[in-house]
Amino acid sequence: MTVASGAVDVDIWSVPLDGSLPDGAWAVLSDAERERARRMRPPAWQRDFVLSHYATREILARYTATDPAALEFRCGARGKPEAAGSVEFSLSHTGGLALLAVSAAEVGVDVELTRPAPPAEGLMARCLTAVEQAAVDTAGNDTTAAFLRYWTAKESYLKGLGIGLAEPLGNVEVHWEGHAKARIARGGATDKRWALQALEVGPHHVAAVAVNTPWPGITVPLRYRDFKSLC
Ligand SMILES: CC(C)(COP(=O)(O)OP(=O)(O)OC[C@H]1O[C@@H](n2cnc3c(N)ncnc32)[C@H](O)[C@@H]1OP(=O)(O)O)[C@@H](O)C(=O)NCCC(=O)NCCS
Repeated sequence: MTVASGAVDVDIWSVPLDGSLPDGAWAVLSDAERERARRMRPPAWQRDFVLSHYATREILARYTATDPAALEFRCGARGKPEAAGSVEFSLSHTGGLALLAVSAAEVGVDVELTRPAPPAEGLMARCLTAVEQAAVDTAGNDTTAAFLRYWTAKESYLKGLGIGLAEPLGNVEVHWEGHAKARIARGGATDKRWALQALEVGPHHVAAVAVNTPWPGITVPLRYRDFKSLC
């Protein structure tokens, strides 16, 4: 399994966060990961964290021809984990599902669990611009899904940049062009370097990926993969 240098294709790996941990999952993690995991409560969060990091190592090891336990991660200036070598990745985990995006290009991914209650007005006002709020308001019964489409698009972009939620989501504006593709602006200026796409990850989750590409406006080729196929 390789990632072509300079390509912007993205592999989207789904990791179902269910069932018990595979034997040896803890052993693959680094001391620091095990220490973080041990502090996690409730136990389901700990299981999700260990499984997500185990899967991340097992998957990235196949791209880098490295032993999963030997993979070393650097921490970017704003906290984004980075793997050695030419592979770029981004991890997101939420109730029931983790996604790992892998590419030769800088990448960010975010997945959120859909929920029945609409977002609180204060949250909408903080995270969405006026244009985005107006679009969500017209979504009828799908207010929550519409809100999460904006949220995941913005967070995937900020994770791609390595900033994460240290920057307010309201500083980013997303313009959906049809169902799957979006343009993005940050601080009022269009950022053409990043391609933004919605992901199809089933009825219970909303997700998006952001990819740094030299070709503005392209539709990034996505390959969906299932971690269970490796087990
Ligand atoms: C990292 C952050 C984006 C996580 O958001 P989230 O929706 O809770 O979690 P997700 O599951 O989507 O992503 C988590 C993964 O993102 C990655 N990540 C961590 N920091 C990152 C950064 N600065 N940029 C990109 N990715 C990052 C890690 O792989 C992390 O996995 P881990 O926690 O299991 O190690 C967010 O917590 C953050 O930006 N924190 C730093 C800034 C901050 O403290 N802001 C104040 C709180 S609002």
